Amino acid sequence: MAHHLFKRKPLSLVHEEMKGENRLRRVLGPWSLTSLGVGCIIGTGIFVLTGVAAHHKAGPALMVSFVVAGMACIFSALCYAEFASMAPVAGSAYTYAYVTLGEMFAWIIGWDLVLEYTVASATVAHGWSSYFQNLIGSYNLHVPKIVSTAPFEYNLEEGVFHATGAWFDLPALVIVAILTTVLVIGIRESARFNNLMVGIKVVIVLMVIAVGAFYVDPANWQPFAPFGWAGLSLFGKPVFGQTGADGMPVGMLAGAAIIFFAYIGFDSVSTHAEEARRPQRDVPFGIVASLVICTILYIAVTFVLTGMVRYDQIDIHAPVAVAFQQVGLGWARRLIALGAVAGMTSVMLVLMLSQPRVLLAMARDGLLPEGFFGDIHPRFRTPWKSTIVTGLMVGTMASLIPLGILAELVSIGTLLAFVIVCLAVLVMRYIHPQAERPFRCPWVPVIPILGVILCLILMLSLPFGNWLRLLAWMVAGMLIYVFYGRHRSVLARQRLADQAANAGCEPITP
Ligand code: ALA
Repeated sequence: MAHHLFKRKPLSLVHEEMKGENRLRRVLGPWSLTSLGVGCIIGTGIFVLTGVAAHHKAGPALMVSFVVAGMACIFSALCYAEFASMAPVAGSAYTYAYVTLGEMFAWIIGWDLVLEYTVASATVAHGWSSYFQNLIGSYNLHVPKIVSTAPFEYNLEEGVFHATGAWFDLPALVIVAILTTVLVIGIRESARFNNLMVGIKVVIVLMVIAVGAFYVDPANWQPFAPFGWAGLSLFGKPVFGQTGADGMPVGMLAGAAIIFFAYIGFDSVSTHAEEARRPQRDVPFGIVASLVICTILYIAVTFVLTGMVRYDQIDIHAPVAVAFQQVGLGWARRLIALGAVAGMTSVMLVLMLSQPRVLLAMARDGLLPEGFFGDIHPRFRTPWKSTIVTGLMVGTMASLIPLGILAELVSIGTLLAFVIVCLAVLVMRYIHPQAERPFRCPWVPVIPILGVILCLILMLSLPFGNWLRLLAWMVAGMLIYVFYGRHRSVLARQRLADQAANAGCEPITP
């Protein structure tokens, strides 16, 4: 029985399935894939989280935090790229885990990706709403208070919930509805919309770097690492470095753990493998190129931001926009807010594009109801029902639940997926040494092992509560698997059919 939980999906079956009828439309080239990656990466992290990370956790050493988190991502990205070239289907890490570690791990990763894509979209939608209201507020336009935010908000410093007096967050709901419609209509339309948003945000990020560079005062980089270089805690107990007033780790590593959120999204490129024209070549390119571009931009923005304003003067809500105001460049504020709104729009778009593709892969394997989650629209060739369900879940969460607190949960969940993909590359090299690998991760086993170590260090640098929340999330996922997927998966049904054939009788359908 237990053996069945670790049953692997044969790689040959994955390749066989790719030839089937019910597939998505192959329209994405290398630059569209890179643009989807950049679309999903640059958003809340750089426009919002850099403030808390520089002010409370790392100071100017946040530049190094970006390098450390970027390295963890580059190592993981190389592992994703190898897998994406071997199994270019929609399921991403979920499928990689299925062919290497077995069904139960695959389910865990699939469930974990829901955390990464759906919960992250809702978190970003919440941030989008505040930035959007701030932007239209500068033109004296206001959303009625009663529909301006979620009914409750969580005060991180006091650790309590407050009623906001509002009923729900209408702007968040509206943007999610618009994006869901674009996503249902087609991958080509979604990619075009994404290109537009990416163009706007990249131009504004470049402007921040080019203009901000003239206002850098190197004195602001002293002291460079006011909170030290560490910030590691082992399940709630600080083991390396200082702690802040709230007992949480502080230092360069703690900063890296917070801004890791800024890098989330490059892996989403691998969920579009089925829509890529030449997936084996272009998906690895899209993953690595989008990550390298964003890493360079992030380090440059942090260099400028911490150089323009002393770390303890950096605003924690809108750090980049306020920094420009602080040095007398008030005119840039609206432009930066526009960049943030465009950035977060494309992040949501691509996250909500990725989620249904993972659900589709899980449904094809029988771990979710295939008739629903596996249904491809006959005209649009998109997984329309699971796209609408994703939109409903994101919209409900974003408009009703205070989600700021969940950004770290999303990060820890994503780091877990990265750890499993790095391990899976090692397992795959061992069990299928001869399999065709159009893209090979260099220096195996060094790169995957370093990826695992760096991701684990970042996981340990996050406050302990996130481990408990991740555990609760996983327990909920395991219950669904035990009561649903375990009996209904294609592999389980095949096993029953084989047993019945051996016993010479009709198979029992679960
Ligand atoms: N990396 C994405 C962002 O920063 C999730 O918004």
